[in-house]
Formats: sequence, structure tokens, C-alpha cells
Amino acid sequence: MKKILSVILMLSLIFALTACGETGSESNTAAPESARDTSAPAAGTSEPTPSSGGKSIVIYFSRAGEQYGVGTIEKGNTEIIAEMIAEKTGSDIFEIEPTDDRYDLSYNDLTDYAKQEQNDNARPEYKGGTDLSAYDTVYLGYPIWWGDLPMIVYTFLESNDFSGKTVYAFCTHAGSGNSGTAGKIEKILPQASVSDSILAIAGTTAQNDRDRARAETEDWLNEIGR
Ligand SMILES: Cc1cc2nc3c(=O)[nH]c(=O)nc-3n(C[C@H](O)[C@H](O)[C@H](O)COP(=O)(O)O)c2cc1C
Repeated sequence: MKKILSVILMLSLIFALTACGETGSESNTAAPESARDTSAPAAGTSEPTPSSGGKSIVIYFSRAGEQYGVGTIEKGNTEIIAEMIAEKTGSDIFEIEPTDDRYDLSYNDLTDYAKQEQNDNARPEYKGGTDLSAYDTVYLGYPIWWGDLPMIVYTFLESNDFSGKTVYAFCTHAGSGNSGTAGKIEKILPQASVSDSILAIAGTTAQNDRDRARAETEDWLNEIGR
């Protein structure tokens, strides 16, 4: 019980510290606009111009099982959004899956494990791969873990060639919003054009209110001209 309370306290603290571009509300009554970080691009950066034609792919990491605020789920929150984007944009889809069962843990144990990976600046391996050379546009999806990208997403970004690609990120979260992850992705992928407009959807909305999640997703795709 003490351990559960301390994990909840730790997560609450990090959610508060990392809240960015969001109302932070988990309420299903918030306007869809609250899901998007529409802040102006940082000085010296410019929004990618959507290219007409060209192939696109949705690449995502997501975890089913016991998750925050939604109980034990069969399909990960981010995976639900990934499939919506792929369907709407006619994109191919690739899941970043760990090579072993390293994330097959209870929610509380996973939070500890993920924190350790972050502290160690680990680069967990993923299964298989995908050739990005055929794609102009990459939609990159992930859950927010400890106010950041999961470390396995760093592994993927660092081991693939994103030269000349346009990258649109989307995430699910439990209150932190996008946690400034566009800036982190931009740093890892200087050779790509990374949009500042990130779709950030509450995991509870993705899992339990598919109509609203779809509306937020489609609003965002319209906003970025897709
Ligand atoms: C290890 C771990 C760390 C998390 N850290 C945060 C966090 O810092 N901020 C936040 O809003 N949500 C956090 N969450 C909640 C997830 O971002 C949220 O439940 C997400 O929708 C999970 O998506 P998935 O089912 O696609 O993996 C964390 C969840 C896990 C498992």
C-alpha cells in the first residue's frame, strides 16, 4: 500500500512539473482543442509544409496490460490513436515492440523499471525493423513516460535514417500533455522536419471515449493539413 501511494505521489509530482500545452484535465468534458499544443514554433523553426503525395507511415510504441486510470486493457491507448491515424491517412503502420518481455509488468513495477531505464539512459532493443526510405511522412506515437519519450523510442529514432522526412508526433498521457517532446524529437532528428503541433490525448479518452478521441485526432490532422 505504501509503495502504491509513493508511486502515485511521484507520478502526480512529475505530471504537475511537466504539464505543458494542456489543461491537464482528465475530464471527458474538456474541449477537443485542449488536446493539441498549438503554441507558436520556437524562433528559428518553421512548420513543415505538407507535401502532396508521397507515402506515409505511422510508427508507434504502446503497451497493453495494466495501465493508469483504465484498468487492464487489451489494446494500448497509443495504439488506438495510431490505428485511427493510419486509417484516416491511408498510412502503413509499424509497432515498436521490445525484443523481450521487459515491459510485461504490473503498472507499479513498470513505473519503477521505466524510471531506472531513464536514469540509466538505456536504449532497449526492439524487434525487427522497417525501411523508412519509401516514406516522406512519419507519424510518431508514444505514451508519455516520466515526462519524456519511453527510452525504446529513443532507440528507434537514433537507429533509423530520418533525413528529409516530415515528422508529426502524437502521444497519450495521464495529465502531462505532450511534455515538450517535440523539442526532444527535434534534437534527436536534426535532419528531419519535426512539426511543433503534437497531438496529445488523455489515455482515458483514447481507451474509453473513442468518438471523442477520433474527433480530436481528425481535428489535428486537419490542422496539420493531412
Ligand atoms: C512507466 C510509465 C510512466 C508514466 N509517466 C507518465 C507521465 O510522466 N505523465 C503522464 O501524463 N502519464 C504518464 N504515464 C501514463 C501513460 O502516459 C498513459 O497511461 C498512456 O496513455 C499509456 O499509453 P499506452 O497504453 O499506449 O502505453 C506513465 C505510464 C507509465 C506506464
